[in-house]
Amino acid sequence: MAGSPEQVSTNSNSVSSADRAADPATKDEVSNQAHFVVVANRLPVDLERLPDGTTRWKRSPGGLVTALEPILRSNQGAWVGWAGVADAHLDPVVEDGLELYPVPLSADEIAEYYEGFSNATLWPLYHDVIVRPEYHRAWWNTYVEVNRRFAEATAEAAAHGATVWIQDYQLQLVPKMLRMLRPDLTIGFFLHIPFPPVELFMQLPWRTEIVEGLLGADLIGFHLPGGAQNFLFLARRLAGQQTSRGTVGVRSKLGVVQVGFRTVRVGAFPISIASGELDEQSRRKSIRDRAKQIRKELGNPTHIMLGVDRLDYTKGIDVRLDALYELLEEGRVDPEDTVLVQLATPSRERVESYVRMRGEIEQTVSRINGEYARVGQPVVHYIHRPIPRDELLAFFVAADVMLVTPLRDGMNLVAKEYVACRHDLGGALLLSEFTGAAAELRQAYLCNPHDLDNVKDAMMHAMHQSREEGRRRMRALRRQVLAHDVDRWARAFLGALADTGAAGPALITPGEENQD
Ligand code: ADP
Ligand code: G6P
Repeated sequence: MAGSPEQVSTNSNSVSSADRAADPATKDEVSNQAHFVVVANRLPVDLERLPDGTTRWKRSPGGLVTALEPILRSNQGAWVGWAGVADAHLDPVVEDGLELYPVPLSADEIAEYYEGFSNATLWPLYHDVIVRPEYHRAWWNTYVEVNRRFAEATAEAAAHGATVWIQDYQLQLVPKMLRMLRPDLTIGFFLHIPFPPVELFMQLPWRTEIVEGLLGADLIGFHLPGGAQNFLFLARRLAGQQTSRGTVGVRSKLGVVQVGFRTVRVGAFPISIASGELDEQSRRKSIRDRAKQIRKELGNPTHIMLGVDRLDYTKGIDVRLDALYELLEEGRVDPEDTVLVQLATPSRERVESYVRMRGEIEQTVSRINGEYARVGQPVVHYIHRPIPRDELLAFFVAADVMLVTPLRDGMNLVAKEYVACRHDLGGALLLSEFTGAAAELRQAYLCNPHDLDNVKDAMMHAMHQSREEGRRRMRALRRQVLAHDVDRWARAFLGALADTGAAGPALITPGEENQD
């Protein structure tokens, strides 16, 4: 989840610096090697250093963690990842029931591998170059080095014949590196963001290395069939062209790439949320009471619109603000009876494009309030902090219109979370066509975020839908979200991975664990 501030634990002893690395007491807490290993840039928890010198873990931001945490819990596996701060040389540790293998990053590596190559090169390139990707050789070199460190850490954490599931764009070289270190492992890779069209991917100076890196996996998963097709085309075109030992034949057909003697499978696995759990939690009286209180605190307006995002330029927060501004200007929306609440988790705050976007968004919020607010009655409520989980659910329950307007998004879990929280069949979902979620949530009010008039009209429809229309749409949306939950996603991926042949022990996913 995106940076809910909830503290997971406070413990000055549960983690240690490099000089405690040999401490057997800490080492004893984790099993020697795991049969199921998730590898992601971030651990599911971030380390926070407090002023008094103690440390605590807090939840990490983003949809990847929201989706994968329950899967790892039920598989009793290990998670290899970065603790979110510079130079944290930590021993493996069991934290809140999860076995964590922290990978250290220096401040320079954070700047070049994480903020640089991952988030100023790959992120914009894979999101349709909404901002211009930067290509720097130094960043690439650090990306290679850090990917190698992740591969080595994983090789140490994984038991013989283990299943390893590598996540996302920050670690695309790890599958090949890990295979070279540990040919006994079954390796899956899942990309949580869109895989771009061929014409865009071809900009990348290191395109061949990336494709070959991914082809080290037994199974490569994307959210949508389009991403899988883009990759299959590139694999045929790029991989196998150049190796020191001459050309290796790469053939691809429907869902399969043949790399020499190895077969790599490629498929679409749309990710989801723990929808049943969310449905249950959102029915709790405390959440419903809090939702009522939120409405009251906002002045009981007729229309509450809500945005919930990491503060990221892909999310189209500017689009919804611009649409609202024009609707107010045109008198189609009345500032007396409408509010927009924008909850925005801080994200990648040192990357230049994020700094710029934040400034622009905050200026637009001020402009709207400057022109249309009354004392004690702002039109836009903007909160630039992560929100605790229960509070977030109460906002979902309270909101009449959920605004999900990304210019590009691999999936967008917020859209699914909103639907899962509306067992009352109330509310309306406005959803950008450029999200992966739009492929499934057809009964949302779909809009093209590049067409402001279209967004404005969709907002008006969503705000003024009849009760029957709203219930009909929400019922259909909920059917989809509740049936296609994150367990099903994990089962589909891990099942396909097991079927690739070299599978290790069978894996269970949540929901299956209590069945016998
Ligand atoms: P991304 O992974 O790009 O951040 P998703 O919509 O797929 O986007 O996932 C975001 C996750 O972070 C969701 O679980 C959502 O509830 C959570 N989240 C987003 N914004 C906030 C916020 N302001 N406070 C707390 N959690 C948030
Ligand atoms: C998206 C990405 C994740 C990432 C998350 C949060 O969900 O797909 O890989 O972890 O955003 O971003 P951050 O840069 O803070 O890890």
